[in-house]
Amino acid sequence: MSSPEPFVSLRNVRKVYRSGGTEFLAVSDVTMDVQEGELVSLVGPSGCGKTTVLKILAGLHEADGGSVRIGNSQTRFDPARDIGMVFQQALLLKWRTILDNVLLPAEIIGLPMKAARARARDLLKLVDLAGYEDKYPQQLSGGMQQRVAIARAFIHDPKLILMDEPFGALDALTREQMNLEMLRIWRESGKTIIFVTHSIQEAVFLASHCAVLTAGPARMAEYFPIELPFPRALPIKTTDEFGAYARRIYVKLGLGAGT
Ligand SMILES: Nc1ncnc2c1ncn2[C@@H]1O[C@H](COP(=O)(O)OP(=O)(O)OP(=O)(O)O)[C@@H](O)[C@H]1O
Ligand SMILES: [Mg+2]
Repeated sequence: MSSPEPFVSLRNVRKVYRSGGTEFLAVSDVTMDVQEGELVSLVGPSGCGKTTVLKILAGLHEADGGSVRIGNSQTRFDPARDIGMVFQQALLLKWRTILDNVLLPAEIIGLPMKAARARARDLLKLVDLAGYEDKYPQQLSGGMQQRVAIARAFIHDPKLILMDEPFGALDALTREQMNLEMLRIWRESGKTIIFVTHSIQEAVFLASHCAVLTAGPARMAEYFPIELPFPRALPIKTTDEFGAYARRIYVKLGLGAGT
């Protein structure tokens, strides 16, 4: 049986940054197909072009070569409405309550607010923040703020969620907790998620597929499924199968040798 039509398809994507008469090749050749409902982790050395790839997917930058297609014959795609983004920092507005922060994208694209408010409350429950609706960001811990940012990314029911090192600023234990939350939210929402991370553990634990990029300008070094069974709990990280996937990424990143 042939695989279904991909939801996200990047073909030989290339990106050159131009400023003040100079050119900088940031991404040289990225090809990947993502099926609807997958959670893909994107790993690669610092500065290799991961954020650039996400920005191209979000329509914030245009590729200089290759092609980018999102959506398929069943699903029409409108980047303004159909993408939710989460960044390394929560980027909440400190003068708005938690509920109003989650509602911001709904306001911007003009969704009916009564329904959006009900959805925001449900999303805050989903990220385990029921009861915090009327608090302000500075009253929440870093991990809680990041969960608000995740709820905000889901408020307009986007078809594609792009996350750029969303847990990079968190301590190790909170991060593991957030990994569990992420898996649960992904499995409950059925969204397609592309997730940039520097953590190889996170890349294996969360993902249905892993994309490894080379040092910049990025090329796709390897794109492979992570066939660990769901549901996944943290102790899976101690299994041989998990270790084999982690090793495969270390080797691809050129970090396979000892000293
Ligand atoms: N607007 C820009 N103009 C010029 N060069 C840029 C611009 N944005 C990024 N770059 C360069 O492009 C390369 C890729 O940057 P990008 O932010 O995509 O990397 P990254 O893989 O996300 O890095 P990190 O892991 O540190 O977040 C880097 O060398 C960066 O300096
Ligand atoms: Mg980046």
